[in-house]
Amino acid sequence: MKILVTDQAGAEHELEGLEGWRVMEVIRDWGLNIKAECGGALSCATCHIYVDKDWTGVIGAPSDEEEDMLDSVGDVRPNSRLSCQILMSDALDGLKLTLTPSAAKDV
Ligand code: FES
Repeated sequence: MKILVTDQAGAEHELEGLEGWRVMEVIRDWGLNIKAECGGALSCATCHIYVDKDWTGVIGAPSDEEEDMLDSVGDVRPNSRLSCQILMSDALDGLKLTLTPSAAKDV
């Protein structure tokens, strides 16, 4: 299964991932610009992404804990999510998302 990621520079990448992986892990392991400081423990918000509008309904709403973490980033939008809280599955094959400025390693 794959995800389609637009990076902070606007370049598009098609990344292959495995069922059960965190979307953050797929982005990080392919070497794209994502800090993901806490490694998926829901305590940093540096894995912040924007979900493509066609996919927000499929992915569903964030948990209260995730929303609290999202409140701490300056570039939050209605389609913001933390990519470590989204698990790869058949339903998400082809998921489109964009990396945020606040997730970049060089910020
Ligand atoms: S990697 Fe830290 S909250 Fe997702």
